[in-house]
Amino acid sequence: MSIRTIKTKPFTDQKPGTSGLRKSVTQFSQQHYLENFTQALFNTLATNNAADNKTNKTANNLKLALGGDGRYYNTTAIQIILRMAMANGVKQIMLGKNGLLSTPAASAVIRKYQLDGGIILSASHNPGGPDGDFGIKYNEDNGGPAREAVTDSIYQKTLDITNYRISDTEDIDLNSTGKQIIGGMEVIIFDSIDDYSEMMQSLFDFDQIQDHFREEKLEIAFDAMHAVTGPYANRILALLCKPESLHLLNTTPLPDFGKGHPDPSPAHARELMDIMYSGLPSGTTPIIGAASDGDGDRNMILGKQCFVSPSDSLAILTANATLIPAYAKGLTGVARSMPTSRAVDNVAKCLGIPCYETPTGWKFFGNLLDADKITLCGEESFGTGSNHIREKDGLWAVLFWINLIAARKQTVPEIVSDHWDKFGRNIYCRHDYEAIESTAANDIMQNLISNFRKIKQYSGNGKTVAQADEFSYTDPVDNSISEHQGIRIQFDDQSRIVYRLSGTGTQGATLRVYLETIESDKNLFNHEATKQLEPLGKLAAKIAEIEHFTGRDKPSVIV
Ligand code: G1P
Ligand code: ZN
Repeated sequence: MSIRTIKTKPFTDQKPGTSGLRKSVTQFSQQHYLENFTQALFNTLATNNAADNKTNKTANNLKLALGGDGRYYNTTAIQIILRMAMANGVKQIMLGKNGLLSTPAASAVIRKYQLDGGIILSASHNPGGPDGDFGIKYNEDNGGPAREAVTDSIYQKTLDITNYRISDTEDIDLNSTGKQIIGGMEVIIFDSIDDYSEMMQSLFDFDQIQDHFREEKLEIAFDAMHAVTGPYANRILALLCKPESLHLLNTTPLPDFGKGHPDPSPAHARELMDIMYSGLPSGTTPIIGAASDGDGDRNMILGKQCFVSPSDSLAILTANATLIPAYAKGLTGVARSMPTSRAVDNVAKCLGIPCYETPTGWKFFGNLLDADKITLCGEESFGTGSNHIREKDGLWAVLFWINLIAARKQTVPEIVSDHWDKFGRNIYCRHDYEAIESTAANDIMQNLISNFRKIKQYSGNGKTVAQADEFSYTDPVDNSISEHQGIRIQFDDQSRIVYRLSGTGTQGATLRVYLETIESDKNLFNHEATKQLEPLGKLAAKIAEIEHFTGRDKPSVIV
């Protein structure tokens, strides 16, 4: 094998966002683009290891996981990264079979085999195909997304890169499992479903689920959206009920996700929504309908004619955690991202456990989980997880709900309605203004900040502003500070508006407006959240002068 050093020039746009570097395939396939970022990553790892006296590691004995969500460019990128890993002296790569590794499985594998980290190739729920998006992110040895100090270092190194190293070895056959030594590097191709399935069986009561689901002839529907969870769901969900009771949709991973948008939301999982709202052709309706996203870390939970908001889901899992074997001893604490509804706060208060409020992005939960300050955590953006790994976990959330149905012997709407009766309902939704001009988006945020004084004096439509600020987070474990994490406006009736700019979009900017109000009148619990929050959405648009800055008189998406 010979190693070549290729001259290159920096790209200025390789700053990782909320979850790694995410760009269009067109951008990623520019000459040297992926290579530059990958070399900057290896340079960061080499520097970190050189400075790490504890483990006495050098760049030469790194062990890394590698795989992706199967989208277009996945296998091309894997071959490039393998050649660069060889040239950079990586000792071992654990590679998902066919290049596939769901994000939660990657996290599990890093932890189980005590790897130094992992490279995950995904643009999550963004569309795929040659005209779609691609992404790369690095996870550290705890299995979680790299902390800001690491992503900042990678970014800095992309700005002064002058060359990268790559070997001239042949492409590797990604389909056959086993160990091989190529260019001095050990490549282990493995099927991550075994490890992941074993872990799920250690967390949940599969016997209890099987008994309940078989006895009551309950059906399950799951939509893998032609993304990475298909093969995992095929294997694991089949253990739970009779084959004729399992309705699996779109379980073959496709590079373009079947031209769909692998986003588990009511807008994109239409087939599943139809089943859960209008029933199967046989006339029955599954007791649970669920979906996961491109890389398998998100989840959507539905019951018969019932959508569970992700914020409520986190609160409900927290309230019922002791019914699940893995959490039977109780939770040390919980965390939610700042814009996520405060439904879980009410439960934590009642349980007498701490509830942390973190910036958006899973990387902020890592320290809290590592320090055992929290057991469960979640985000409004269809993400829920626990201390079993350091990523959000789509199938885990689905299994949690299935286990809950079996343990409580109730339907999804019954579980939700019992929860609201006990804790009240935090009515919640999000208005997204997508693909707006970046300058307009920044102006909106800046204008809000400059107008804090005026906003704090606002009173109208029966509401008075109680507080307005920009969220800044001090990590309770390492005291690192993350500033500019969104703007919060809190009203005296406990309702709330939050504004922040997306860090995962690839076209222009996306302004997210998060709306929340608290309802204690049981007669209003069943009203549709998006309708009930319309007036607050209008007020949010007025306060931020969205139409003035963007010309938009309504959001592009309401979730
Ligand atoms: C979005 C979500 C955020 C999530 C991230 C990665 O980021 O809002 O909660 O962690 O995707 O899945 P955003 O585009 O808002 O920066
Ligand atoms: Zn995802």
